[in-house]
Amino acid sequence: MKLELDPRSNNRPPRLQIEPMSERDIATVMKIEAASFTTTWPANAFSNELRDNKLAYYYVGKIGEKIVAYGGIWVILEDSHITTIAVEPQHRGNRYGEIMLLFLLDQAIVRGASWITLEVRESNDVAQNLYRKYGFTSVSTRRGYYSDNSENAIVMWAGNLRGSLYTNRLNALRSALEG
Ligand SMILES: CC(C)(COP(=O)(O)OP(=O)(O)OC[C@H]1O[C@@H](n2cnc3c(N)ncnc32)[C@H](O)[C@@H]1OP(=O)(O)O)[C@@H](O)C(=O)NCCC(=O)NCCS
Repeated sequence: MKLELDPRSNNRPPRLQIEPMSERDIATVMKIEAASFTTTWPANAFSNELRDNKLAYYYVGKIGEKIVAYGGIWVILEDSHITTIAVEPQHRGNRYGEIMLLFLLDQAIVRGASWITLEVRESNDVAQNLYRKYGFTSVSTRRGYYSDNSENAIVMWAGNLRGSLYTNRLNALRSALEG
């Protein structure tokens, strides 16, 4: 008898497990941060967020015990904000950024958000593509927002997160990710 092999399952990257970020994760998060952004948050920004900001929710994505991604949101009543998201460079292109973004959106929605915003560098096409895939549109430009090179920030926004249109969109994207 011939063994049935599903070629996709051989190539599929290991599953990303997402859990709340804790203080002991910050050293690894800082390494990914340094490899991902030209201006980085200091380590104490993450600890302050975890310890003192009641509106903030931060998560790490792990393969086994190794942290390869992280992300955070603020949720203020119906308003929410993606504060950061990054994947370790060697693990990019495996849908981990997308899985983390979907998780952040789910968290914002279950915590009551109806809309969500973020800032992204004008030159960051990769991130902008990811956000557009999830229904974000550009709403304004903050001129010279980034202090290192005075680059503009594009403000992106997605609204009516609890409406059936957006729910269907998320479900379709979720199914494709799980496919
Ligand atoms: C942005 C980031 C989180 C994306 O994570 P990733 O795991 O590499 O991306 P994924 O494999 O999940 O790809 C998801 C989507 O992102 C976009 N994308 C990813 N890689 C891309 C590339 N090389 N070129 C263009 N678009 C790309 C696409 O829309 C893609 O979906 P598609 O393949 O169906 O078109 C990651 O590149 C990163 O950490 N960048 C540095 C930090 C950063 O810029 N964070 C955002 C700050 S606003």
